[in-house]
Amino acid sequence: MYYIPLKISKELVNKEVLFHEVDQEQKDFYMTRNWFGRTNILSEDFHQWLESLGCSIFFAEVFYTPPGGKMLWHIDTEAPSNFVKINFVWGSQHHVMQWGLYNKKEPKEISLTSASTKYLNFEPNEVTLVKSYKIETPTIVNIGTPHRVINNDKTGRWCLSVNIHKDGNRIAIGDAAEIFSEYVLD
Ligand SMILES: [Fe+2]
Repeated sequence: MYYIPLKISKELVNKEVLFHEVDQEQKDFYMTRNWFGRTNILSEDFHQWLESLGCSIFFAEVFYTPPGGKMLWHIDTEAPSNFVKINFVWGSQHHVMQWGLYNKKEPKEISLTSASTKYLNFEPNEVTLVKSYKIETPTIVNIGTPHRVINNDKTGRWCLSVNIHKDGNRIAIGDAAEIFSEYVLD
């Protein structure tokens, strides 16, 4: 399983607060990792909804994909997994998130982001594409399997990505499907 679109509102994000916090003049790929725990980037309604499901925010971060931008294939964590984040997307109208399978045997070396977090990245020929999806409504995404974003618009793509925990642990997408079952978009 790669993604689970949710029937919750994008308005659960305080966009004014969010866009005050990011550099809207960005021209290149850009990421932040600034907001741990409860944050006023997300509304009180969002926090209460998450807490009603026994979940909480570990951290939230923002990714910007410029017009014509194509991310490298990567996994957000230091080892392959099925862990999830909830993504909210704005800006670009022509964009896609893609997932693939690592098609080599050798283990990958761990890389560090600018925020010193561990991730894995892949060469284009090391991943076989298996799924493409355009995120419109807030969507649970699998970030533990190789994925990337392609933005085919003249407008940049902004993504607020919320790393959620349950009982202090990251959530695998199979568990997320159960936890959020009432809110899955048909
Ligand atoms: Fe990612």
